[in-house]
Amino acid sequence: MEDKFKSALNMSVIPVVTIDHENHATPLAEALIKGGLPCAEITFRTAAAIRVIKALSGRGDLIVGAGTVLNTEQARQAIQSGASFVISPCLNPKVVSYCLDAGIPAVPGVSTPTEIGMAVDLGLSILKFFPAEALGGIKTLGAISAPFEQVQFIPTGGIGPGNMVAYLQHPKVIACAGSWLVKSKLIIEEKFDEITRLTREALLLVEKAQQR
Ligand code: 3PG
Repeated sequence: MEDKFKSALNMSVIPVVTIDHENHATPLAEALIKGGLPCAEITFRTAAAIRVIKALSGRGDLIVGAGTVLNTEQARQAIQSGASFVISPCLNPKVVSYCLDAGIPAVPGVSTPTEIGMAVDLGLSILKFFPAEALGGIKTLGAISAPFEQVQFIPTGGIGPGNMVAYLQHPKVIACAGSWLVKSKLIIEEKFDEITRLTREALLLVEKAQQR
């Protein structure tokens, strides 16, 4: 399981998916795979989330994580449904401990040095910097992460094609996450070709970030 999270991080971009209808799960997965990014964070923001995590993790050709996990019950449901990692917007020590006990990587959201310190104390070294842009973006990330040499971040919130390269080039950034390439509107309107196009565009930007 840990290896799957590493593979997801190696892709440098984690699409944050909020999906209302289970029947969109397969075309969404295929659009991402076609675009070259077989990975998705399925948020617990819809009633369909658990069924979608189950359906996608059962495919075997896509790494599936759970997002917006706020409590241990959701963490339990996510892990039982096959999620390979659990992402939260906030730091809930109970969720972190639950996931670590289950052998599943937990990635809580942090926005202050105090929260980073608490997460490090729980044994974590990869954290979600959220909401990245609203907090002041790269400048804030650099400032609050400076004392924590061992910690790497997944900036999320307001990331898109216009700023992702700069985030990826920051030494403390291990990957970026965001909804821009899998917007709910695109899924609802079944614009899966557009999702593939945005996915390819994102991967070209990853290449660009790595070249410099
Ligand atoms: C999340 O759930 O991680 C964020 O809402 C994603 O933020 P974005 O929609 O600005 O990418």
